[in-house]
Amino acid sequence: MILVTGCAGFIGSNFVHTWLENHDEPIVNLDKLTYAGNLDNLASLSQDKRHIFVQGDIGDRARVDALLAQYNPRAVLNFAAESHVDRSIHGPGDFIQTNVVGTFNLLESVRAYWAVLPEPAKTDFRFLHVSTDEVYGTLAPQDPPFAETHPFEPNSPYAASKASSDHLVRAWHHTYGLPVLTTNCSNNYGPYHFPEKLIPLVILNALNGKPLPIYGDGQQVRDWLFVQDHCRAIARVLESGRLGETYNIGGWNEMANIDVVKTICARLDVLRPRADGKPYADQITYVTDRPGHDRRYAIDARKIESELGWKPLETFESGIQKTVQWYLDNPKWVEGVTSGEYRKWIGKQYG
Ligand code: NAD
Ligand code: DAU
Repeated sequence: MILVTGCAGFIGSNFVHTWLENHDEPIVNLDKLTYAGNLDNLASLSQDKRHIFVQGDIGDRARVDALLAQYNPRAVLNFAAESHVDRSIHGPGDFIQTNVVGTFNLLESVRAYWAVLPEPAKTDFRFLHVSTDEVYGTLAPQDPPFAETHPFEPNSPYAASKASSDHLVRAWHHTYGLPVLTTNCSNNYGPYHFPEKLIPLVILNALNGKPLPIYGDGQQVRDWLFVQDHCRAIARVLESGRLGETYNIGGWNEMANIDVVKTICARLDVLRPRADGKPYADQITYVTDRPGHDRRYAIDARKIESELGWKPLETFESGIQKTVQWYLDNPKWVEGVTSGEYRKWIGKQYG
């Protein structure tokens, strides 16, 4: 079996679904269930014996040691993280604790477990660390997209904490020989996306008649990838990635934020027209910019494409159509996720 961390969150839960659709190999899912962890994302698997959920912290050495001894996984995949840039600006402490100290503790548990594995399990073992393109910093309009060789220039507390974790993973390979793989992916979107992030926030605010907040001038560029394409890429890297290597994952789909928001509005105009017949784009509102806001991210995904034969299956048009439809079809999930802690955050961030 494989042990995955943080799989009650957005990408992790999509990974569990995608994995179990294509493999019979069971998954042990270790998740702390922070505000971003949501067992509703995995509700359809409640009777599936191949998914074993364990609540716990990646930084809890004793807990992770015991899980490794109990389940004897052939691989550990680390999705667990604090992931929201705006929250890292308000309070960076949790980001350092989970993304840096937590990853360090997880690496130490895994190293102790791996060191005494018998062959061939030891040679076959993998530690896969899921990371982000934000470690590379920001690009000017004419710069080439981020390749794996681009220097680390993280700009937000979140990006710096992820860059630190990537460095730790690299060092544990170089120094101890731990068989690691790292992936650095661009912006994901799709089902189960927590609605504090741009795309789900805009869909839900639009439907609720609320403003669609655009930071600054809305010309910041992100590369958007449908989440299931990311999950397929991670499975490919786990299967055939070269040890100690990093793989950039992206959709070759750079878009300015304002264009992303206008595309969502246009989809909603067709799928769920406003009662007054006006376009959803009327709700767009420009608000104060994010401090230190990175201007442009773009991913050069040629390495994973040529070495591992991975390519995204969705275009932005097909992926955003599925995503908008998913939020329209799942009002119960939305209701569950937009209570309590979520309302507190929205009040704090947008007033
Ligand atoms: P998310 O915030 O939706 O989910 C994170 C999950 O980790 C939650 O279930 C949370 O409960 C869990 N978690 C947090 N701290 C933990 C701890 N100490 N121990 C155990 N579990 C803990 O995040 P996401 O968007 O699904 O991102 C998953 C990973 O992918 C992160 O490492 C993130 O940096 C990376 N990533 C995200 C994106 C993106 O667009 N969302 C893009 C590239 C990379
Ligand atoms: O690039 C990968 C990263 O993508 C991941 O590592 C992060 O975990 C993930 O959260 C995401 O980070 P971003 O900061 O790019 O995503 P977010 O959805 O928060 O914002 C996307 C863009 O939209 C960004 O330029 C900020 C802008 N934005 C965001 C919000 C929430 C707005 O204009 N208004 C908003 O209300």
